[in-house]
Amino acid sequence: RRSWAEPYKIKMVEPVKMTTRKDREKAISEAGYNTFLLRSGDVYIDLLTDSGTSAMSDRQWAGMMLGDEAYAGSRNYYNLEDAVRQFYGYKYLVPTHQGRAAEHLISKIMISDGDVIPGNMYFTTTRLHQELAGGTFADVIIDEAHDPENEHPFKGNVDLQKLEDLIKKHGPDRMPYVSIATAVNMAGGQPISLENLQQVRELTAEYDIPIIHDMTRVAENAYFIKKKEPGYADKSVAAIVRQICDLTDGATMSAKKDALVNIGGFLAVNDREVFEEARNLVVVYEGLHTYGGLAGRDMEAMALGIEESVQEDHIRARIGQVQYLGDKLIGWGIPVVRPIGSHGVFLDARKILPHLSQDQFPAQTLAAELYLDAGVRAMERGVVSAGRNTETGEHNYPDLELVRLTIPRRVYTQAHMDVVAESVAEVFANREKISGLNMIYEPKYLRFFQARFERA
Ligand code: F0G
Repeated sequence: RRSWAEPYKIKMVEPVKMTTRKDREKAISEAGYNTFLLRSGDVYIDLLTDSGTSAMSDRQWAGMMLGDEAYAGSRNYYNLEDAVRQFYGYKYLVPTHQGRAAEHLISKIMISDGDVIPGNMYFTTTRLHQELAGGTFADVIIDEAHDPENEHPFKGNVDLQKLEDLIKKHGPDRMPYVSIATAVNMAGGQPISLENLQQVRELTAEYDIPIIHDMTRVAENAYFIKKKEPGYADKSVAAIVRQICDLTDGATMSAKKDALVNIGGFLAVNDREVFEEARNLVVVYEGLHTYGGLAGRDMEAMALGIEESVQEDHIRARIGQVQYLGDKLIGWGIPVVRPIGSHGVFLDARKILPHLSQDQFPAQTLAAELYLDAGVRAMERGVVSAGRNTETGEHNYPDLELVRLTIPRRVYTQAHMDVVAESVAEVFANREKISGLNMIYEPKYLRFFQARFERA
């Protein structure tokens, strides 16, 4: 039996448009060969992101009807606060409209000019907020994470030597916190082990440096710990999630991923002073501290989503579906990041298109070709996403030049996964005929969202 079969049934459907190759040629060229600029109506299977694209449960939809749309002190805020305390253990909650808003607040509060913020690989919005606050991000993830073929089970781990060297070089006073992500997105959804996190905690405690946790996909990370880390097989995912959070001092959350909502996020901290500042600042940027840019109903759906996100059946099916797609591609010899990670399958565009240099944007090109083949929308995670060096203005050239097939939670079926796999195989078979792209428009911030390209 398929142990990962869906623990739910479908009671509402949304038709999707079937397009022809000619339709798609027109759509992608109008979108400047950037999948972010496609209209979703022109997409058949949308694997752009797992962010805000998940299906809510009937319980969550029922919760939407219980929205208490009071400006201040909404009952749903208190329900959310209870859920955050119960499942994550953080003391103080500041809701925000999504993850980057929480990153904005914590960066503004804790980072000063000239600070260095070590992290287990960068994330686009996280790093940008650190930089806008005057800080510099420093990558301290283990080297294995930069190698798509390395089968290390915990490629999200921190290289403790790198971290300690960095602390000694800059001094603990220049390090407002260490930024630790669970299920590291840019590495391919790779988990950090509890053993490693414990060691990071011990090292940072010596220097009195707090840990801020990017907990966007913490339940997915916990599931990998249960499956792969010795000693955790009999622990519940919920208990492992708590253990992870308990090793950190605060967290930013994009609830649009793990927590199964279409919009929402928060900052949660244990330090009273940081909380008070955040609660004050949120009023400036998001809204009153008991709604932070969200409707009451959104907070209710989030509170319920948090609870559902740690249920064993849910998380097994969620990761199981991603593994199913990944295993299929691996079986056909298609180069992907290994091991298969939490939220998607990451195609290795360098290996698939070795005839293109990074200046020809191989991952951007591959994502466009995939869309053309069968209407599957993926996302570039390579040189375009990596942006430019803030000092030299040159492109950052990351080792990982990837196309992410990101799987929304509870949305697509196994037949959809088969179509995706077959389309990837088709593009792979014709890879030698694929030529690269030129960038013809480049926005200043987070350029991957809005950059435009044309065929070289
Ligand atoms: N941190 C991680 C690890 C993320 O993956 C994201 C968003 C954020 C922070 C920012 O949260 O979008 O709610 O403001 N990732 C999305 C993605 C956009 O497609 O990977 P946000």
